[in-house]
Amino acid sequence: MAEKKPTMHAVCYKSYGGGSAGLKHVDVPVPEPKKDEVLLKLEAISVNPFDWKMQKGMMRPILPRKFPHIPASDVAGEVVKVGLAVKKFNPGDKVVASLSILAGGGLAEFAVAKENLTVARPPEVSAPEGAGLPMAGLTAHQALTQVAGLKLDGSGPLKNILITAASGGVGHYAVQLAKLGNAHVTATCGARNIDLIKSLGADEVLDYKTPEGAALKSPSGKKYDFVVHCTEAFPWSVFEPNLSDCGRVIDLAPSVGGIMTFALKKLTFAKKLPMPMMATLKGANLEFLVKLVKEGKLKTFIDSTHPLSKAEDAWAKSLSGRATGKIIIEP
Ligand SMILES: NC(=O)c1ccc[n+]([C@@H]2O[C@H](COP(=O)([O-])OP(=O)(O)OC[C@H]3O[C@@H](n4cnc5c(N)ncnc54)[C@H](OP(=O)(O)O)[C@@H]3O)[C@@H](O)[C@H]2O)c1
Repeated sequence: MAEKKPTMHAVCYKSYGGGSAGLKHVDVPVPEPKKDEVLLKLEAISVNPFDWKMQKGMMRPILPRKFPHIPASDVAGEVVKVGLAVKKFNPGDKVVASLSILAGGGLAEFAVAKENLTVARPPEVSAPEGAGLPMAGLTAHQALTQVAGLKLDGSGPLKNILITAASGGVGHYAVQLAKLGNAHVTATCGARNIDLIKSLGADEVLDYKTPEGAALKSPSGKKYDFVVHCTEAFPWSVFEPNLSDCGRVIDLAPSVGGIMTFALKKLTFAKKLPMPMMATLKGANLEFLVKLVKEGKLKTFIDSTHPLSKAEDAWAKSLSGRATGKIIIEP
């Protein structure tokens, strides 16, 4: 008689759309790690706008690859099984991982992660603090180090950086990393989060609902060398007067209009440029972020924590666009 495969609780969606009501609770087989993968018993999962944008069909027909799809890719947990070629991890190790964006699998009790996108989690870093890091933290890190050229040991020249939606997942990490990188940071957020964003190190904070905030105008008159733009599309005419001579807007959620502006500005050799950016998630950078959290130099601010049985609440909160920091789900 064939051996019965162990099953687990998971949350999936079976078609595009539907928001939080489109999430279904299911029992599915525990996944088997391939030779370069580890099987994790999950302790914390974080939700990103990417997850519900995929459900909305904003990446169709590429993602999700098939239905039903178990969403979410940012996790922390314990290794329970390793593939044949895995060298760095053993059962019992505590880790943070970025699951395959293509496969997802995070809203579950167990998930498989590639060894190269899994990093050790020291006891000083809690599972929720670790789970917040992959997509949001690595995006902020890439924008600031690769595009804006900041050196996070603070050894580079002073740069003026604007971070929009600084209270969001990406923004709150970006503020802290930019300060480590010797930047003067101007940030935008709602009035309720101004004190929080100042406490994370921002030099100047604008309430985005005031005329000055909507105009992105630095209170001290600074012109921005880089903008890490973490919210919906703004017209180029809002950015342009606030940029230094060769200022760049790193656009994390570019609209079609934003991409057209980028192409036009490139073609006309404009000095001030929008720069659409897609994050490339790298294990070495995730390891670096975990180390910063361990050393107390980077904090994950937790918006709210939800049990997996109420994953819909976490999903709805992310969909509302009103999260402060990271939304966490615990299996
Ligand atoms: N390109 C990439 O590779 C990449 C990677 C990661 C994320 N992203 C994208 O980057 C964006 C941000 O992601 P996230 O995880 O940080 O989102 P998030 O956590 O959902 O952001 C929510 C925060 O944004 C604030 N906010 C909303 N509109 C604002 C505005 N006009 N001005 C200032 N603050 C505003 C909200 O403040 P209030 O509640 O006070 O309104 C809330 O605190 C998303 O569109 C995401 O898809 C792209």
